[in-house]
Amino acid sequence: MVEFALPANSKVQPGKSHKAPAGAKKVKTFKIYRYDPDTGANPRWDLFEIDLDDCGPMVLDALLKIKNEIDSTLTLRRSCREGICGSCAMNIDGANTLACLKPIEDIKGQAVISPLPHMPVVKDLVPDLSVPYAQLASIKPWMQTQSPQPPDREVLQSPEERAKLDGLWECILCFCCQTSCPSYWWNGERYLGPAVLLQAARWIHDTRDEFTGERLDAVEDAFRLYRCHTIMNCTNTCPKGLNPAKAIGSIKEMLAERSE
Ligand code: SF4
Ligand code: SF4
Ligand code: FES
Repeated sequence: MVEFALPANSKVQPGKSHKAPAGAKKVKTFKIYRYDPDTGANPRWDLFEIDLDDCGPMVLDALLKIKNEIDSTLTLRRSCREGICGSCAMNIDGANTLACLKPIEDIKGQAVISPLPHMPVVKDLVPDLSVPYAQLASIKPWMQTQSPQPPDREVLQSPEERAKLDGLWECILCFCCQTSCPSYWWNGERYLGPAVLLQAARWIHDTRDEFTGERLDAVEDAFRLYRCHTIMNCTNTCPKGLNPAKAIGSIKEMLAERSE
């Protein structure tokens, strides 16, 4: 497991404590990062005791129980609750993952929950993802062609051509990998990061796209691509089991072949 604990000198203060209901037998404590930049107050850790006998099995179930029954101001993103939308990505028990796919029973002791690391915080568990989304737009994540499209059928691929997209199309853009990458932490404005580069690879390897050369030109840069130092945090943390480091390596290989 890749761990990203908040630094010991972090200004996160102890916050409010909410006790479990009387008679609760299976109590679990959730220690949750709270921060509202609009108030000017420092971030704090709030403690919530939850009766697991009266809660669904996933961390997202506990967070929604807290929001619905204890503190409606707790702020988080979620939508699909089945690992498809990518919006419930956060740091749970020291690793970036999806709250809806993380079983509470896998967490020993207190469940410590904070937003994706090294991003500005909009509120509580909601990170500001404006920069990675702008970076995603910069790689033009859509099909680009010049040839006239066949009027009577789809643009076809062989099974082998289609197989090149496996391990890439499944990305749900949760940014768990992006925010686990030390290179991205330190050069986030200039390095595209693993999620965006995996998306770039998804279009570079698509045989129906006719702008492969331009796409390679667009990423060939000491910062945009080559800040990846193959540290592998991205691959170790991806909740969908994808391998962004391998995708980045495949782009580097194509660039190396092109320059031979
Ligand atoms: S392999 Fe590259 S993208 Fe992945 S964590 Fe390491 S430096 Fe970041
Ligand atoms: S590669 Fe994995 S961790 Fe990264 S954005 Fe896609 S699904 Fe999330
Ligand atoms: S709520 Fe959609 S991935 Fe978790």
